[in-house]
Amino acid sequence: MRMVKVPLGTRSYNILIDRNLLKSLGAECAKLNLGQRCAIISDSNVAPLFAKAAQRSLAKAGFDSVLITVPAGETAKSLKTVQLCYDQLAQHRLERKSFIIALGGGVVGDLAGFVAATYLRGIPFVQVPTTLLAHVDSSVGGKVGINLKAGKNLVGAFYQPRLVLCDLDTLKTLPEREYRAGLAEVIKYGIIYDASLFDQLERDLPKLLKRNPKTLSDVIGRCCEIKADVVGQDETESGLRAILNFGHTIGHGLEAISGYGKYLHGEAISIGQVAAAKLSAQLLGLPEFEVIRIRDLFQRAGLPVQVKLNPAQLNRLLDAMKLDKKVSAGEIKFVLARTIGKVEFGQKVPMNLIAPVLNF
Ligand SMILES: NC(=O)c1ccc[n+]([C@@H]2O[C@H](COP(=O)([O-])OP(=O)(O)OC[C@H]3O[C@@H](n4cnc5c(N)ncnc54)[C@H](O)[C@@H]3O)[C@@H](O)[C@H]2O)c1
Ligand SMILES: [Zn+2]
Repeated sequence: MRMVKVPLGTRSYNILIDRNLLKSLGAECAKLNLGQRCAIISDSNVAPLFAKAAQRSLAKAGFDSVLITVPAGETAKSLKTVQLCYDQLAQHRLERKSFIIALGGGVVGDLAGFVAATYLRGIPFVQVPTTLLAHVDSSVGGKVGINLKAGKNLVGAFYQPRLVLCDLDTLKTLPEREYRAGLAEVIKYGIIYDASLFDQLERDLPKLLKRNPKTLSDVIGRCCEIKADVVGQDETESGLRAILNFGHTIGHGLEAISGYGKYLHGEAISIGQVAAAKLSAQLLGLPEFEVIRIRDLFQRAGLPVQVKLNPAQLNRLLDAMKLDKKVSAGEIKFVLARTIGKVEFGQKVPMNLIAPVLNF
């Protein structure tokens, strides 16, 4: 088993990564000094696959669990679903020492984490991610929240889990398109932090696409180490944590103008990262051959690397980017790369440079 520690003082926690880990969920929770009652929050795709195994393991360790199943998909990140969860928690008499287990992808993790952060002013929670994106990104770092009509993730909190349990076997059932979308975040870690991870991804991509467990364990472990390192230095995004948003300014804009549905998040940030690489070449001297390496790796992973927009769509994209909450004082700031493995945040990018980098 691989273990990565997220170093946050008294709020530190471990990320465990291995195959067949779900059966140890109860035993691992038993080490955390939690109450006897818990609620598993999962979605309608994931619960039928893994909730039984989770509940069996919890029961074996003496925990009394109730399963709350929400509809699959981004719409579950809503106040309405939060209310539904609160009602069920109260009905099952969860109290201060009781805990919540998020069993699912990033949607369930963000929702269940927000419910845990607010129910009774905060009860402990454990992340059991089941998508690649959640293994390497959303389950680690404590950003939890929900969407409003006005935009994604507009209500939320920083609230760290007590444990993250990544069972690699859960990835076996993940649809191919979702899996590839998760690879966009994996590649991001190489670009922003670790040139040798990027090299490894170029080398091992075929094995990764076959979901080889050994490669997955290595790569997910490294991504979690990087996220833990960044979050450990800047938990609430006052500086360094912004580097995790490489490719996200354009990516979020694309998601917004295409009505959250055309692109998966990973697909949108794949286009966004390739565009950011091209801007990096113009503004920070990222070598042209590294732009090509970046584009090629996303392409080999089966991800889109460009988008054709008509003038009206382009204007909507630029407007959406200005509305993103990462914009301050009306200025768009980007994370740009100097070389693969080294990026800088807070880079001002003139608006007129954006359209030309969206397609080759
Ligand atoms: N908190 C953070 O730091 C952070 C970071 C990145 C993304 N996010 C959030 O994460 C969400 C996206 O997460 P996601 O990509 O995991 O999407 P998701 O949770 O919607 O999961 C994708 C789809 O796969 C299904 N699924 C999940 N696990 C499965 C499995 N093992 N087998 C079969 N099907 C499975 C789900 O039911 C869903 O239909 C967004 O809401 C985004 O805002 C949060
Ligand atoms: Zn992302």
